[in-house]
Order: sequence, then structure tokens, then C-alpha cells
Amino acid sequence: MTHMLTATDLSAAYSGIHALRGVSLAVSEGEFVALIGPNGAGKSTLLNCLSGVVRPTGGSIRFNGEELVGTAPWHVSRKGLLQVPEGRQILANLTVRENLELGATALSGRHSAYTLERINNLFPILAERREQRAGSLSGGQQQMLAIGRALMGGPRLLLLDEPSLGLAPVIVVQVLAALRSLNAEGLTILLVEQNARQALDSTDRAYVIEQGRVVHEGVSSELAKDPAVIAHYLGQGKTAKH
Ligand SMILES: Nc1ncnc2c1ncn2[C@@H]1O[C@H](COP(=O)(O)OP(=O)(O)OP(=O)(O)O)[C@@H](O)[C@H]1O
Ligand SMILES: [Mg+2]
Repeated sequence: MTHMLTATDLSAAYSGIHALRGVSLAVSEGEFVALIGPNGAGKSTLLNCLSGVVRPTGGSIRFNGEELVGTAPWHVSRKGLLQVPEGRQILANLTVRENLELGATALSGRHSAYTLERINNLFPILAERREQRAGSLSGGQQQMLAIGRALMGGPRLLLLDEPSLGLAPVIVVQVLAALRSLNAEGLTILLVEQNARQALDSTDRAYVIEQGRVVHEGVSSELAKDPAVIAHYLGQGKTAKH
């Protein structure tokens, strides 16, 4: 299997404080991969390195054979590596439709397999609320909009940073189901998720990172049975992070 994305020995630091210490990770075309780990482990830093928002201090990131380190974020997104950022970052004063249309700016001539119609089928509430201000949507609806906006940009690989954060459990189930259906239709996904149990239940493979290092990796269903993973990440009461 050829890897779509390969990060090798990636390191990153903020003012000399190490956030990533030699992380290697690979995602193959069509895979749904989870990245889990405690607060401050470096999950967001890793996604931000992949999307070009944070510049790594060492290592390499190859996307479809091309080196990405040093590439500006807008350029990375034009290659089809698109991130749904933590906190959604939708434009509250624009309508749902306008937010979705903005997502298409990442295309720059490329084609997106995800038309408005397809996104509306995935999240019918976005069609119903099309002309409303995005700021008037609920948290779950805003998350759906953030995902829809990224889809409009024609992702070949979609990165998501804790899409379930702050959402009611029933909405989390809906969002994860939508991601699984996107993956089943062929979209490659790398998901950072606070809820390790749900992340392992939804994905093919997973990486566990701690203090900037990969400490476990493997098939999600096997990691979910690994006593060390259960003890540290899947124990009772270890579901919410805030
Ligand atoms: N902008 C920043 N400036 C300084 N330090 C930062 C910055 N962003 C993250 N850090 C530090 O880098 C380390 C990794 O943070 P990161 O946000 O990547 O972790 P995370 O796994 O995403 O955590 P969380 O689960 O809380 O989202 C932490 O020690 C954090 O305090
Ligand atoms: Mg984070």
C-alpha cells in the first residue's frame, strides 16, 4: 500500500519548549486514522505541522510524494490537504451558504468531489439553514458547517482537530457517523479525538501520542484491547477532558 502522507521524525517547539520529539506517522489512501493522547501531548501541533500552520524544527512531511515542510498553509490546502481547525473557525457573520462557498477557494482550479448537494445530503440541517448567519447555529451545526466547508475545498486528505469538543453526546455520534460515511465513500481522514473509545471504534488505525512522542500505534480494534491502552486511555471516567 502506498502512503498518501508520511511524516518522518518530526519535531516542533514553541520558544524552545519541545512539543514534538521525533514523531513518525503514515496515512494510506482511503484510511481513517485516529490520533489520540492526553492534553498537551502535541496532537494539535502535529496536525498544524501537517497543514503548514506550524513549521517543524526537524523532520519531513511527504504528501503524495512531495515534501511539504516549508510550504505555506494556503498552498498545502490547494494540494488537497485540508484541516478542520480546532474551534471550527467559521465566519459567524456570514451565512451558512457563504461559509461553504468560501471553502471552495482552496480548490484553485481543482475539482471537488463534494458538491453543495452532496454536503447538503450529508448534513441536511445545512440546507435548511442555508441563508442563516453561521453564528446562529448550534455548536454541532457549526461543526457540520466547518466539515462541509473543508469538503468544498476538495480534500484528498482531511485533518480534523477534536470535532466533538463541547458537543452533546448525541451530536458527537452524528458527526462521527458522517465521518465514517465520508471515509466509506473514499475520503482519507486523520482525526484527533479526545474521546479515545469513540475514536478507536470509528477508525482503521490509530496513533497514541504522549509528550510529543508516539507511544502506541496499530489497528484501532487491537489497540482498544491492549491492556496498556485501556489502563491509560480507556479507563472508566476518562472520557471528557475539560
Ligand atoms: N502557541 C503555543 N505557544 C507555546 N506553547 C504551545 C503553543 N501551542 C501549544 N503549546 C505547547 O505545546 C505542547 C503541545 O500542545 P498541543 O496543543 O499540540 O497539544 P494537544 O495534544 O493538542 O493538547 P489538547 O488535548 O489540550 O488539545 C503543550 O505543552 C502546549 O502547552
Ligand atoms: Mg489540541
